[in-house]
Amino acid sequence: MEPIYHRLTSAQSDIVIRTQPFAEIVYWGQHLVHFSPLDCASLDRPIANGRLDIDTPITLGAELGRGLFGSPGIEGHRNGLDASPIFTTTQVEQNGQNLTITAEDKQAGLRLISELRLDSSGVLQIRHGLTNLRATPWQVDRLAITLPIAERALEVMAFHGRWTREFQPHRIRLEHDSFVLENRRGRTSHEHFPAMIAGTAAFSEQQGAVWGVHLGWSGNHRLRCEVKTDGRRYLQAEALYLAGEMALGEGETLHTPWLYASHSGNGLNGMSQQFHQFLREQVIRFPENKPRPVHLNTWEGIYFDHNPEYIMQMASRAAELGVERFIIDDGWFKGRNHDRAALGDWYLDEQKYPNGLMPVINHVKACGMEFGIWVEPEMINPDSDLYRAHPDWVLALPGYEQATGRYQWVLDLSNPQVFDYLLERMNWLLGEHPIDYVKWDMNRELVQAGHNGKAAADAQTRQFYRLLDELNRKYPHVEFESCASGGGRIDYEVLKRTHRFWASDNNDALERNTIQRGMSYFFPPEVMGAHIGNLRCHATYRQHSIEFRGLTALFGHLGMELDPMTADAAESAGYERYVQLYKQWRPLLHTGKQWRVDMPDATTQVQGVVAEDKSQALYLVSQLAMPDYTLAGNLRVPGLDPAARYCITLLDHPQISVVGKGGHTMRKLPGWMETTQTVSGEWLAQAGLALPILDPESAILIGFERV
Ligand code: DGJ
Repeated sequence: MEPIYHRLTSAQSDIVIRTQPFAEIVYWGQHLVHFSPLDCASLDRPIANGRLDIDTPITLGAELGRGLFGSPGIEGHRNGLDASPIFTTTQVEQNGQNLTITAEDKQAGLRLISELRLDSSGVLQIRHGLTNLRATPWQVDRLAITLPIAERALEVMAFHGRWTREFQPHRIRLEHDSFVLENRRGRTSHEHFPAMIAGTAAFSEQQGAVWGVHLGWSGNHRLRCEVKTDGRRYLQAEALYLAGEMALGEGETLHTPWLYASHSGNGLNGMSQQFHQFLREQVIRFPENKPRPVHLNTWEGIYFDHNPEYIMQMASRAAELGVERFIIDDGWFKGRNHDRAALGDWYLDEQKYPNGLMPVINHVKACGMEFGIWVEPEMINPDSDLYRAHPDWVLALPGYEQATGRYQWVLDLSNPQVFDYLLERMNWLLGEHPIDYVKWDMNRELVQAGHNGKAAADAQTRQFYRLLDELNRKYPHVEFESCASGGGRIDYEVLKRTHRFWASDNNDALERNTIQRGMSYFFPPEVMGAHIGNLRCHATYRQHSIEFRGLTALFGHLGMELDPMTADAAESAGYERYVQLYKQWRPLLHTGKQWRVDMPDATTQVQGVVAEDKSQALYLVSQLAMPDYTLAGNLRVPGLDPAARYCITLLDHPQISVVGKGGHTMRKLPGWMETTQTVSGEWLAQAGLALPILDPESAILIGFERV
């Protein structure tokens, strides 16, 4: 059969897919200006001696039965039978940049529908739906999405992490076999953010070709980059199923999570910018023209020590500092005096709040702020009325002792009684109180997740989505934050149901620089909760200046995580200053194009945001450690209009001096800091701007204004 090719195109990237008699991506790369399907003949492969006598394509289904020999895209069986399907295309529909390919294996009784959508941002969304066409169940062990990438993608980048240290990038050179990332923690996880980036040798923020993927799924997952022995490479991503967890009855369909993929020919910035644009246009739901309000969250200020009188004083003080949303964290519900009891008992603690929640809410609103509250609905403490009444509501496998985590277990959301109880309690909370914002926490992993004796981790994630969907439908005005001990549940599928992420429980500005940069590869600043923490950080006991803390929080959705009542005058003035600065710049920070800059000295970290029309830009220079060199060198500023001239201003902290406190690093400042300079965008990009010499763990903010 003559091959038929379909092309999906965007201004940034193109994908060309052979669809008959099977589906195979033959090109995923830069946008092609002159494309003819006839050109695809140039890719007709030779057949090597000493191996199969046929060409073996890396199809969308990546079927082992074709002679792939690598990690297959589908594994499963019908009591041992029908275990090696091979799919043949039966129907292809292209509608603009959406392509749907239906394929069947009549022998095995299976249908595979692959949906591909190339967004105008350049982001490809792809998923499979597998249907069992026979009466006997087909046990699904694996169902993965496989994307071939160019052979020159020699390096692979992924993220490791842990609690208080999320999104740490690491990278390997992959010449043979596989690099695999597996998550069995039952939530997106701090440890294995579901993303992988492959790129040409030494790809960087601004250079090299990269292919990045993110699996939108808040449960177990597996991602892989594989090099076949013939040199071809592919990225593969899937939800990871526990033994026996997934079986399809007759006519039932299993969909993979959506995989989001972005190619850039200009390094990691191009990839991130496409992901950010895609999220802004397609995923993030936020009222247009509503600025992201400044938060004050009570957790690190008062922990479980809730006294409504004092909380109202905190709220008044917060409002004076410019805070726009006040959030009561953990500790408000019955018996919640520490982290060892009460999860599940979602009733107000009347000892702490004898007059109910309303006086506090009314006070917060009277101060001109929105009101938010913390919940952790999926959890139960053994020491709770709920557990005493319903010990069988725990997500568990019968006959086994299950370890607690933070003294808690998980509730079985697949049990309709549990689901209804949580819905009823959330209806009480959101239906009977004027709540604007919910911080939805999830502080433990799933261990032996079971429902009716069978593994149920995948089902638990789906039920969590259903619960949030239900609440979003009923309370469309309420915003949700996804928090899981900080950044344990950050992904695109949960973002469809939430408005913001709590990036980390670590508010140490130095650590936050790395965490937030890691998160920025896939998420724009406006969904990244970034709070100014206590002078002495509660996670690290390190102390940073208010300037370093304030500037670090500026490049996200800014808030405070502290008790404003206990701050001295200098600290309070600092809070006010950075709240003001954030309010001034948030329209730009939350809509502009983000850039990370390659710096010769790795101790200097630079990021910026440039307005869509290039009229303005902000660049943050963070000195993370003692500089390697005496001079800080030049910042070559990306993203500006080369033809325009820009006035350069040191926006923070402008009092930087050559003598005295903070002035010991230089005898003379760079020229632009002494006299106002106007410089062309082209010159700034090519030649650059001389940076001042900064102390370790300090930062400056530079503004560029088109003249
Ligand atoms: C973990 C979260 O990440 C914190 O911000 C805080 O909400 C605590 N849980 C409360 O228990």
